[in-house]
Amino acid sequence: MYLKELQENWNTFGEEDAMWSIYSTPEKKHNQWDERDFFRTGIQCITHLSTWMENNGLPKRRLTALDFGCGVGRLTQALCAHFDCCVGVDIAPSMIKQAKQLNKHGKHCVYRLNETDDLRVFPDESYDLIYTEHVLQHIHPQVALRYIAEFIRILRPEGLACFHCPSASATHAYPAEGIACSLDSTVNKIAMEHMGLVSIPVRVTNTGNHPIGVNKTTNAPARIWHHWANQNTGEMIQMHGYTNVPATLIEPGKSLEFEYKAASPPTPDTYELVLNPTNYFNIPLTDSINDLITLSVEVTPQPVKKSASQTGISSTKRPRSESHAIPIEAVTRVVELAGGRIVNVESSQVSPGSVVKTFYYATRS
Ligand SMILES: C[S@@+](CC[C@H](N)C(=O)[O-])C[C@H]1O[C@@H](n2cnc3c(N)ncnc32)[C@H](O)[C@@H]1O
Repeated sequence: MYLKELQENWNTFGEEDAMWSIYSTPEKKHNQWDERDFFRTGIQCITHLSTWMENNGLPKRRLTALDFGCGVGRLTQALCAHFDCCVGVDIAPSMIKQAKQLNKHGKHCVYRLNETDDLRVFPDESYDLIYTEHVLQHIHPQVALRYIAEFIRILRPEGLACFHCPSASATHAYPAEGIACSLDSTVNKIAMEHMGLVSIPVRVTNTGNHPIGVNKTTNAPARIWHHWANQNTGEMIQMHGYTNVPATLIEPGKSLEFEYKAASPPTPDTYELVLNPTNYFNIPLTDSINDLITLSVEVTPQPVKKSASQTGISSTKRPRSESHAIPIEAVTRVVELAGGRIVNVESSQVSPGSVVKTFYYATRS
């Protein structure tokens, strides 16, 4: 049941906006990733791994590599430069389908769907490298630990399992008095096609005493939600979508301008669109209605119906992405019980209170 829901969520993310759901920078939302730029980010990750492999002499052979939770193959494709045969495995059919279409390495790279909470499709000791990044954090820890044990089972002696799994979740890192901002826009009336995207120029002004955003000393990001209200029926669609305010730091009294993109409501009609700012815990950042953006939007019927994957729009039932962390001690214990040994742990945190990103390098004892 749990895995089915996990699969449905990721399958929808893959259908709607696969690259952004994998690498979520605000300006790349709504299928804005350029394919080459997207895959270049994978090469950067694997270059870091490659340096580690060179310096540490693991794995001993470079024949087979498995990329667990491969998505559309961002990392699998990059691994192909280092291993003879690479396999990408994922739970979402939509991701696997696109990964196959984007494959540039012919039969040296294979993508497989795996719908179980283990890796029984792979024999014992069959891979020189197991790699995974940005996957285990989205899986319930009980299931994630099971996959980690499986990594060790399918690892060849003198192989390397390198897996990323956060070891601490983000904590409430906003200043005690909170952050505050106001929103305004140069438009108050706009028209859009049903099933399309509307782009609204937004200015965020920091009205509080603390910087908004993230850097080495502060972790106080903001996001903007939108809601629709049908002006004819009065029906409300609460929290239809959100965008994180770009990471640039906004000092008190300063403003940042960017384009907010919203998908159309389910039916053509006349709507009021409201944009309001919150922190990451969805706590409003303004208590004045004058500090929100409210605009009138005419949603016109569309001449030719596009599919959800063309528009980046889905039904109103939104899939959800989970976020978990597992303490280093729990991961270490599972690796050891499975017959493995952790040879290195790299932890980093971009700002105080943010997620602790942890990479494990393990081999078979
Ligand atoms: C944030 S994406 C990361 C994709 C890829 N690792 C990358 O960094 O480019 C997470 C991926 O994990 C996949 N995933 C989630 N749960 C999974 C599971 N139980 N087994 C395999 N893949 C899973 C999702 O379908 C999605 O493609």
